[in-house]
Amino acid sequence: MPKLSIRDLDLKNKTVFIRVDFNVPLASGGQEITSDKRIRASIPNIQYALDHGAAVILASHLGRPKGKPNPEMSLKPVAKRLAELLAKPVAMAPDCVGPEVEKMRPAPGQILLLENLRYHAEEEKNDPGFAKQLASLCDVYVNDAFGSAHRAHASTVGMIQFVKQAAAGLLMDKELEYLTKVTKNPERPSVAILGGAKVSDKIEVIENLMKVVDQLLIGGAMAYTFMKAKGEPIGKSLVEDDKLGLAKDLMARAGSKLLLPKDHVVVTELKEGADSRVVTEIPDGTLAVDIGPATIEAYSAVIAKAKTIIWNGPMGVFEKPPFDRGTVAIAKAVASSGAVSVVGGGDSEKAIKSAGVTDKISHVSTGGGASLEFLAGIELPGVAALSEK
Ligand code: 3PG
Repeated sequence: MPKLSIRDLDLKNKTVFIRVDFNVPLASGGQEITSDKRIRASIPNIQYALDHGAAVILASHLGRPKGKPNPEMSLKPVAKRLAELLAKPVAMAPDCVGPEVEKMRPAPGQILLLENLRYHAEEEKNDPGFAKQLASLCDVYVNDAFGSAHRAHASTVGMIQFVKQAAAGLLMDKELEYLTKVTKNPERPSVAILGGAKVSDKIEVIENLMKVVDQLLIGGAMAYTFMKAKGEPIGKSLVEDDKLGLAKDLMARAGSKLLLPKDHVVVTELKEGADSRVVTEIPDGTLAVDIGPATIEAYSAVIAKAKTIIWNGPMGVFEKPPFDRGTVAIAKAVASSGAVSVVGGGDSEKAIKSAGVTDKISHVSTGGGASLEFLAGIELPGVAALSEK
């Protein structure tokens, strides 16, 4: 059933509680935001609520403070950045519930950012009393925190039973629209590119996507677990020995859909400036760190024909150039394919950025764990709990 959207709500003179995902990376003891992508992504929805006459209360977690206040995980720097981006004051509450917060209720056109929800252990425990306190702050609830939709917490699920209407925000709508488009009845040929270190992180994703896509291109260290399972030499490349049986079973079920690298960049030691070479068979004493040029060519040919592309995970040791070449080449191939493309995962996102092709990707997801769970076909509790249209 389609979910209620913020566009369906009457917001005039209402206090709207917007659950956002401001779980941003911080440096300098929590003072410096190193990527404001999630803050930027939340702006259209906040602006929409303001433009439609709402008083806006924003709530998020940041990091994992384990139920206690921790100044290194305060949302204060986020309030400052948000105010700059909106060119508007953003009041910062000292907590997310309690009398101090009650006193700070915003008027229509104003914004109040609550302090880190996870300063209270009740948030992650989905405690009904805490959920009720959060709900008492508002007239209507909007969840725009796609990145947290896989968590069944008080602010993403629990408080919904205490509000009249619970709608998806504009970012949540967009994430669900694209992820649904590429996983349910995609335009064909449809291709999934999966990389990263471990098969174990992507088992459910592979299992679900093999039912949906026409081709599964495998890269990154997880490829060597599949190769070892096939009896191919992998030298001292990363491998999950306890997942060999599973890898064999996945390959048997996926059949010719699943492609593995046909050549590799290998080194004897993984260090800065290490001598590398391209091989088709990984020699003893070497480890593979990237896909080779023949694989780039073969994968790019499949990608060029695709009408739908899902990409999650790097093709090699992306963080150590020049072993980012395979990942960057795949980013360029995805960008020039003209397909509907959805990218998730921090490293694939960095690759499209360093290839300078971010604007050619249809949708870059703001969710890490949430987008993986969606791709695995798991219903996200934060979405399931929203009101139906
Ligand atoms: C994320 O960054 O994936 C989300 O904000 C969820 O954070 P969590 O894994 O700490 O729940």
